Amino acid sequence: MPDGALTNSKIVAAYRQHTPSSGVRATEAREIFPSGIVHDSRHLAPYPIYVDHAQGSHKWDIDGNDYVDYFGGHGALILGHNHPTVMEAVHAQLDKGTHFGACHELEVRWGELVKQLVPCAERVRFTSSGTEANLMALRLARAFTGKSKLVRFKGHFHGWQDHVAFGVTNHFDGTATPGIIDGIAENVLLAPPDDIEATRRIFEAHDDIAAVIIEPTGASFGQAPVTREFVAELRKIATEHGVILIFDEVVTGFRVTPGGAQQHYGITPDMCSLAKILSGGLPGGAVTGRADIFELLDFEKAAEKGFEKIGHQGTFNANPMSAAAGIAALELIAKGDICTKASATAANIRTRLNEVFEEEQVPWACYGDHSGFFLFTNPGNDDITPSTFDPYAQSSEILKRASPGDLVTRLRLGIMTNGVDMSAKPGGVVSAVHTENDVDKTAEAVRQTVRMLKAEGEVTG
Ligand SMILES: Cc1ncc(COP(=O)(O)O)c(C=O)c1O
Repeated sequence: MPDGALTNSKIVAAYRQHTPSSGVRATEAREIFPSGIVHDSRHLAPYPIYVDHAQGSHKWDIDGNDYVDYFGGHGALILGHNHPTVMEAVHAQLDKGTHFGACHELEVRWGELVKQLVPCAERVRFTSSGTEANLMALRLARAFTGKSKLVRFKGHFHGWQDHVAFGVTNHFDGTATPGIIDGIAENVLLAPPDDIEATRRIFEAHDDIAAVIIEPTGASFGQAPVTREFVAELRKIATEHGVILIFDEVVTGFRVTPGGAQQHYGITPDMCSLAKILSGGLPGGAVTGRADIFELLDFEKAAEKGFEKIGHQGTFNANPMSAAAGIAALELIAKGDICTKASATAANIRTRLNEVFEEEQVPWACYGDHSGFFLFTNPGNDDITPSTFDPYAQSSEILKRASPGDLVTRLRLGIMTNGVDMSAKPGGVVSAVHTENDVDKTAEAVRQTVRMLKAEGEVTG
């Protein structure tokens, strides 16, 4: 959205007045980065905030404004910002060295924890990101099955590598987005995210499918949720057809439960990808799964069994700093009630925001499962009751459809001006350290913003 398109909004004027230093930095940044940003999700008109520091469930921008933070390091920070145990481990490692270019003990302990917590994890390989983990999972599946095609669900996000970059927010016909060769798109089959019978027919129509990948709680951490039955049926179909089932647990891993969505469902994929919480707030990822598949990465097994090994490098794989943070985080998650605490607070947020929508008579809803929440701004103008809104009864298309115009932008700006930062879905992820006070502040920020939007004639009620 071009800067200036929102000039008549009082919400935007208040945001600008509140965040002048961020405005200056954003102008400078546009001369350096495309759109002034380094991650698409930070795109915000008229400009995003620039953050100076963070602690617990809060962060502060360079104008000194305090925000309750629901970005949570893009989902990495279920322990909140700067958890003392993680910080202590990172500081200790910093003094010992940031990169040894060698095996180290921390990587072994980190991998052990992944094996201990994640049901499918017979073998582990660390990567530098979730995108890389999914890329390797797919390569392993192709090499293992000797087949070429990948089945993916429309709207499910798996990072930005070539096989997964279309059919997420656009190109739902499966055609390649710019820069991706047609040959890759031709080897990806897009399935409807809420129709298991149509998905089954895709498997029946193709005998060259290597893998199927899914966000196991539904697109974008359940913004368009899927049921356990859907996932269980997919497990069955994949097994029947000899297709490798990959759970993308980059967000859900160590969040839904310590063992991720697979532990929650009691459904074990053949492989899963991990990142975010895995490395305690530092960069990192991992692909993990069946030992027989991971033989493809094994020098000795390849020599013994006479197959060609798959290469795998990566300068920062299992980097000691990330390993130290990851071990500290996973040990806390393994022994504590971190996941349940975060989920309980998110449930409280959902209830409180629905109360706000009902009191303000706005036909919106707050929904979600586990430690996520989403604001449904009702783009179809349906007759809904916030507290009884059932996302499972909605199509994934309507749940992910943006409201017309710049409603969501103004909603976010209003909420930010009232001291809360949410993602563009709109929604957020909750940590185990968000407090009752944070929930109160969030409910009040949403209430004030709804009133501001009403004053601008944006919502009626
Ligand atoms: C479900 C899912 N998969 C994969 C990724 C990509 O991970 P990364 O950003 O570490 O490359 C993300 C990132 O948000 C994600 O949410």
